Amino acid sequence: MHTLGFIGSGLVGGTLARLATTAGLDVVLGNSRGPEFLAGLVAELGDHARAATAEDVAREAELVVVSVPLTAFPHLPTAALAGRTVIDTTNYYPERDGRLPELDFDELTSSELLQRILPRSTVVKAFNNLFHHHLATLARPSASLDRSALPIAGEDEPAKG
Ligand SMILES: NC(=O)c1ccc[n+]([C@@H]2O[C@H](COP(=O)([O-])OP(=O)(O)OC[C@H]3O[C@@H](n4cnc5c(N)ncnc54)[C@H](OP(=O)(O)O)[C@@H]3O)[C@@H](O)[C@H]2O)c1
Repeated sequence: MHTLGFIGSGLVGGTLARLATTAGLDVVLGNSRGPEFLAGLVAELGDHARAATAEDVAREAELVVVSVPLTAFPHLPTAALAGRTVIDTTNYYPERDGRLPELDFDELTSSELLQRILPRSTVVKAFNNLFHHHLATLARPSASLDRSALPIAGEDEPAKG
């Protein structure tokens, strides 16, 4: 995997993109307003970063991080994300996302809702338990005893890997 895609390049997506380029990956970044609004972040991340429409991110990246408010779920490029593993960082905040009865009554989790909208993608939940600033600052080498725990949840073992 060489190119990591981002649909949503805000506090969490942008932080993960920074970590990814530091680790030597290429990233392609998408948002809602258009690639031109990501020029500053792309310039900061350097040669390994570029911006594209969300649709092109889904087409061009082998693995795609979806890091958006839940209100954006219906606008995701479902067809272009078919066959992709999607890393879902989202959390449900009713005050931001509006009330979603299926989530309020525990009939669905936010990732199950996303999986329903992306039926031909494989959704894996990750990075949603860490404040974005901690994501940026608390990384430790793999053998360190004081590493932060990062739960990864999904039903597909290879995708979780
Ligand atoms: N902030 C945290 O510390 C934190 C921690 C864990 C989990 N989370 C969760 O992670 C998700 C992202 O949070 P965040 O804090 O990174 O949010 P954020 O800073 O507000 O960034 C949201 C990103 O989503 C993009 N977006 C919105 N609607 C879109 C659409 N229809 N298509 C494509 N992109 C769209 C926005 O693009 P525009 O700017 O162009 O609109 C922006 O790049 C949320 O579900 C949040 O609850 C956040």
